[in-house]
Amino acid sequence: MKTIIITGAGTGLGKELSLLLAKQGYHTVLIGRSEAALNEVKQQIEQDEGHASILSLDIRNPEDIKEKMLVLNKHHHLYGLINNAGIGCFGPFSQAMDQEVEDTFSTNVLGTIHMTKAVLPYLENNEEGLVLNIISTAGLRGKKHEAIYSASKFAIRGFTESLQKEYEGSNITFIAAYMGGMDTPFWEGSNHVENPAKFRSPQEVAKLILEQLDQDTIIIESKTKG
Ligand SMILES: NC(=O)c1ccc[n+]([C@@H]2O[C@H](COP(=O)([O-])OP(=O)(O)OC[C@H]3O[C@@H](n4cnc5c(N)ncnc54)[C@H](OP(=O)(O)O)[C@@H]3O)[C@@H](O)[C@H]2O)c1
Repeated sequence: MKTIIITGAGTGLGKELSLLLAKQGYHTVLIGRSEAALNEVKQQIEQDEGHASILSLDIRNPEDIKEKMLVLNKHHHLYGLINNAGIGCFGPFSQAMDQEVEDTFSTNVLGTIHMTKAVLPYLENNEEGLVLNIISTAGLRGKKHEAIYSASKFAIRGFTESLQKEYEGSNITFIAAYMGGMDTPFWEGSNHVENPAKFRSPQEVAKLILEQLDQDTIIIESKTKG
């Protein structure tokens, strides 16, 4: 059974992608820091007779990533990686705290790069694979009070586009997905957007993404302005 690793699989878009991929017959490896959230998703998948395992991992820790991917590869046929885990950082740039800047880049940028670096050799060995990077429309154009978040997402855009060129003609596909606002826990504790409930649901966005996996670039604009 082909295995797809999904980071940030306990909530929001990562959870919905995991549920749908399990329904499509993939073994899903659910990654995140909160085991309770991952366990709930695993149970939901198994109730629908799908296959899932959970891996508690902080993607800011490259050594732990390497060790855990090594073990994972011993037990599963690694086929896909979805770099979905990400955090927000919003507000006037002059007020951003150093720690927020560090956390945003170590999660959104370095986390994605280290996960890809750790998994790619196994995909190469299997001579096929899929790496789907969940970016944001903030990776297509800058937005007010999103300087740091947008910079982190532009970085992943460059990372993905470069790997698309590097792996052209191989059986390893890199896909960049840019979406507008989604109604997920991402916005909890933030007043950057007025009403996240107006955004698309993560279920809708997950479905739209999986319908377009034959494309290099997937763009799903926000339903409302943002
Ligand atoms: N919501 C939006 O409007 C929106 C729009 C465009 C793009 N996006 C992007 O979509 C992706 C998914 O976000 P979402 O909206 O579904 O938000 P979410 O529900 O907050 O999901 C983010 C997930 O990432 C995990 N995560 C965060 N830091 C991590 C770390 N260091 N190591 C491992 N896992 C970590 C979180 O789980 P733990 O805390 O348990 O680790 C959480 O499950 C993000 O990349 C986000 O930037 C979101």
